[in-house]
Amino acid sequence: MKLPFAESYKIKTVENLKRSTRAERERWITEAKYNLFNLKSDYVFIDLLTDSGTGAMSDKQWAAIMEGDESYAGARSYYALKESIEEVTGFRYFIPTHQGRAAENVLFSAIIKEGDILPGNSHFDTTKGHIEFRKAYAIDCTIDEAKDTELEIPFKGNIDLDKLENVLKSNPVEKIPAIVLTVTNNTAGGQPVSMANVKGVAALAKKYGVKLLIDSARFAENAYFIKTREDGYQDKEIREITRELFSYADMMTMSSKKDAIVNIGGFVAFRTEEDMQKCHMYCIMNEGYLTYGGQAGRDMNALAQGLREGTEFDYLETRIRQVEYLGKKLDEYGIPYQRPAGGHAIFVDAKKILTKVPKEEFIAQTLGVELYLEAGIRSVEIGALLADRDPVTKENRYPALELLRLAIPRRVYTNNHMDYIAAALKNVYDRRESITRGYVITKELPIMRHFTVELEKAE
Ligand code: F0G
Repeated sequence: MKLPFAESYKIKTVENLKRSTRAERERWITEAKYNLFNLKSDYVFIDLLTDSGTGAMSDKQWAAIMEGDESYAGARSYYALKESIEEVTGFRYFIPTHQGRAAENVLFSAIIKEGDILPGNSHFDTTKGHIEFRKAYAIDCTIDEAKDTELEIPFKGNIDLDKLENVLKSNPVEKIPAIVLTVTNNTAGGQPVSMANVKGVAALAKKYGVKLLIDSARFAENAYFIKTREDGYQDKEIREITRELFSYADMMTMSSKKDAIVNIGGFVAFRTEEDMQKCHMYCIMNEGYLTYGGQAGRDMNALAQGLREGTEFDYLETRIRQVEYLGKKLDEYGIPYQRPAGGHAIFVDAKKILTKVPKEEFIAQTLGVELYLEAGIRSVEIGALLADRDPVTKENRYPALELLRLAIPRRVYTNNHMDYIAAALKNVYDRRESITRGYVITKELPIMRHFTVELEKAE
């Protein structure tokens, strides 16, 4: 008999979950103004809000925490992290920060000025926020195929090289501080970018004299997809692939809370010392001294270890197969999602499910509230709430897709939890025709409103 697949780790510590009743959840979500971010985590049974900072650290990472060096300057932990970053990415220069958006803040403070243009593939919301906050423009050049959720192609996160070249051609090079390539492409559904595409982007960057920045939150999951889907990479180690990927870039920003499996942390890394030095002042002002940035020594130690574990093939296979497992369950029930399954999440196609809810009433958010009411599962809207208003016209932006992201924390839930999630979604799916109205905004911030927005039922 062929042996079935089994996880590449076992469980050493557990955390108990709290169940709730539908009546309790109805009260809690009303008090939370229908914003899932406002819920206490104790009110949530399975938390799929994000895969960021929610992973389970290993025994080796916890051991590394005990050995953290908390010296203000020149800590051993800084050098341990430097070595690990170089091993995994090839970058020799780096600045630690407290998380990914802090890395963006430090880097963008140094390189972006008003009116600049940063083309890329579906910039993440904090990335776009940091660009637009500086009155610069994030131009999305993702391939059009990414908008067709039913289309099954291996590298749906790619940049459209023609779109990119048009932007590069029609703007002066001084106005383009960097191309931002996000791997995997979170907003498009955790979809990977192929090595061929990275090479194509790098060639254009070179041709036009523009720098290439890789937003690397899920670079290891991207490398797994390259290994398993792209010709010529099957026999390569994950770390050979990650080093090749970064060899085409000038800089990277990293939210370590994803693929480095730590609960907090990030960094910016650079090809040249000169580029790093341009950012030093912003690190000291906003994060901390250069050898700890926004992190404690113990955090840097855990991160150094996590980067290595996060780039082990066995770990990545377990991780990505769990997301695929959830996708296959949804297939059984006929529930539409961005195909193929992403690296860190399933992105349910809310527009195809709640066909009667108008887009002005936030379709994916409506589905998210329903899933919470059904089973205490917390997910996140990737739709018009997240898309914010246009910074110039102040009109709501309605993206082509209204997705509900079910982000799977790393090494946290079992496949029984995946079964539970799929069944809950099926129950909502079965009563989809009866859901006809969504929500309207009663309070919002001008940028990144989805975190704090308050809503009420549209009636
Ligand atoms: N870039 C990408 C692609 C991200 O997905 C995130 C965070 C960041 C940058 C910012 O990093 O949170 O450490 O400041 N994404 C999380 C998510 C929040 O839920 O997808 P951060």
